[in-house]
Amino acid sequence: MTVKVAVLGVGVMGANHADQLTNLVAGADVTVINDYDDERANAIADAIPGARVVSDPFDAIVAEDVDAVVIATPGPVHEKQVLACLEAGKPVLCEKPLTTDVESSLEIVKAEAALGKQLIQIGFMRRFDDEYMKLRALVESGELGAPIMLHLAHRNPAVPDHFDSAMIVKDCLVHEVDCARFLLGEEIKSVHILKPRPNSNARDGLQDPQFAIFEMESGRMVDAEAFVTTGIAYEVRSEAIFERGSAQIGLDVNLVRKSAPGIWGGTVTPGFKERFGRAYHDQLQRWVNAVKRGDETGNYVDGPRAWDGYAAAAVCDAGVRSLTTSTRVEVDMVDRASIPGA
Ligand SMILES: NC(=O)c1ccc[n+]([C@@H]2O[C@H](COP(=O)([O-])OP(=O)(O)OC[C@H]3O[C@@H](n4cnc5c(N)ncnc54)[C@H](O)[C@@H]3O)[C@@H](O)[C@H]2O)c1
Repeated sequence: MTVKVAVLGVGVMGANHADQLTNLVAGADVTVINDYDDERANAIADAIPGARVVSDPFDAIVAEDVDAVVIATPGPVHEKQVLACLEAGKPVLCEKPLTTDVESSLEIVKAEAALGKQLIQIGFMRRFDDEYMKLRALVESGELGAPIMLHLAHRNPAVPDHFDSAMIVKDCLVHEVDCARFLLGEEIKSVHILKPRPNSNARDGLQDPQFAIFEMESGRMVDAEAFVTTGIAYEVRSEAIFERGSAQIGLDVNLVRKSAPGIWGGTVTPGFKERFGRAYHDQLQRWVNAVKRGDETGNYVDGPRAWDGYAAAAVCDAGVRSLTTSTRVEVDMVDRASIPGA
């Protein structure tokens, strides 16, 4: 069986997903392309043999030649598109965020659980990155004892002018939120965002960098730096401190060269597509494989689920409140056990 996929939103991420599904992923055909911008949709569809453009995202979701959907539209439109996928009973890989507020994310968790099928996967792609998987495996093995703390860092060279302080939490820190939950296998209990003196490169009013402290349910602590005006390159780094050692990933140890005059070193990855290109591919391949098995298992997901999207929304909501109040804020989440199947 070949999985026939519709890609909704073919900007930076959607174009990348459509390209990987067409040229790298086995067992999938992109049959439908949708974008608000018809010209962009046509340009992407023209490069994919057999793909057609459907102008309305909801028509694309229910189309006969669509078995599964990739949503890569902007966050504010995810809610309706994900709900339409649930209504049509179609598996969906939705880019983060699941939705832009906690309430609607929870409604989606409940709606999926009520169906008794796992149809929603969230695009937290770091969980498919080789280094993150190795660090998670080290935590699970207990080889270095129990983990005690994580030090995380997320640095971008620059962000567009419309990027505000809350977006640093919801767009950047959200990945560190998922990493903390993934690596430690537990929920985040509270968030406190500290506000260092802003970088002189940050535009007026932008709180950059930010320094977040996550307190985990078990009492473990995680610090996460989000710094989006470094002017350097894309840097994502994680260090786990265990009872009997420590382990670090994201060191950009590629080619290291020595040359005159006395220079030693390598290069820093320029952006997220270069750093996580393989992870995006593996995420799509495992999703396509899960969709193929789904009719037998009732599970069309292999990776982070709607619950993870909801948890991230709840932590980021607390993070934005902490940014405003300059205090430690408890994360307000329902008990997962109260939603059977979530
Ligand atoms: N996982 C990651 O590493 C990662 C990285 C970047 C972005 N993202 C997420 O991916 C999503 C898309 O981000 P992007 O950077 O590709 O944005 P983008 O602006 O480059 O692309 C979004 C596209 O969606 C189209 N669009 C807007 N409204 C639409 C609608 N109602 N229906 C159909 N199409 C619509 C736009 O015309 C545009 O082409 C966002 O949710 C973002 O948070 C994830």
